[in-house]
Amino acid sequence: MKRILITLAIALTATMAYAKTLVVYYSYTNNVHNIVTALTGQIDADVVIIEPAEKGLDYAANNYAIGSAQIAAIRNNPDDPASYPAIDPVDVDPADYDCIIIGAPLWWSQMASPLQAYLFENGPAMAGKKIGLIVSSASSGISGVERDARRLIPGGDFFPVPLWVRSSQTGNAATMIAEWLKTIKYSELSGIETPESDRNLANCTIFSVDGRLIGSDVLSLQSLDRGLYIVNGKKIYLNN
Ligand SMILES: Cc1cc2nc3c(=O)[nH]c(=O)nc-3n(C[C@H](O)[C@H](O)[C@H](O)COP(=O)(O)O)c2cc1C
Repeated sequence: MKRILITLAIALTATMAYAKTLVVYYSYTNNVHNIVTALTGQIDADVVIIEPAEKGLDYAANNYAIGSAQIAAIRNNPDDPASYPAIDPVDVDPADYDCIIIGAPLWWSQMASPLQAYLFENGPAMAGKKIGLIVSSASSGISGVERDARRLIPGGDFFPVPLWVRSSQTGNAATMIAEWLKTIKYSELSGIETPESDRNLANCTIFSVDGRLIGSDVLSLQSLDRGLYIVNGKKIYLNN
């Protein structure tokens, strides 16, 4: 009991510096969108959606001709700004973030061209940041997308493994993301913790992330739904 009280006292007085995370994604048929929705149910992050400037393009028509041509243009001349499709302006500065997670559809074994366009402009400003990569493909392996990400974010401090979610696995994304976040030790970066020892504390205060008091003397956190909570002033992701 004494040890628990000491742990609690430390938890109450600790001031955590939280990392700021930005999620940047493009999604044509909503798979990456759904994956990012699952991701932001588990981490605190600002989100930017990349939109091609030219609206209404059917990238899948004629055996994916438009997407194919855009990818080929970049592959043939990756250093030329003219190789990249125009995108809508993005009003967020990557310099304001510690961690950037890229959500990318795979097109012809490469990163989808609108996202490459964003990173061609903004990737160099991400030097020194922690970079996470989540890729969605129908079936192709994602090594080409990883190479694109490393080329476009040359100084990025990449997490050691990317997350690959095949389109058929999109419904299972929340579980895959939870595992991936554990694998890359995201909690160590963000100050979000899932300490087993904190799960049965007496006298702990539990708030939802939107500030609602959920409990003030809860002995067990096991009954709460999976999600992000503020326990004794610390952000904790409960993977129940
Ligand atoms: C232009 C284009 C090219 C694609 N090329 C491939 C490919 O080479 N291999 C593959 O497995 N999937 C390919 N796909 C499928 C997408 O990677 C897959 O559907 C992904 O989930 C799309 O993500 P989104 O729904 O967020 O756009 C392609 C899709 C498009 C639109």
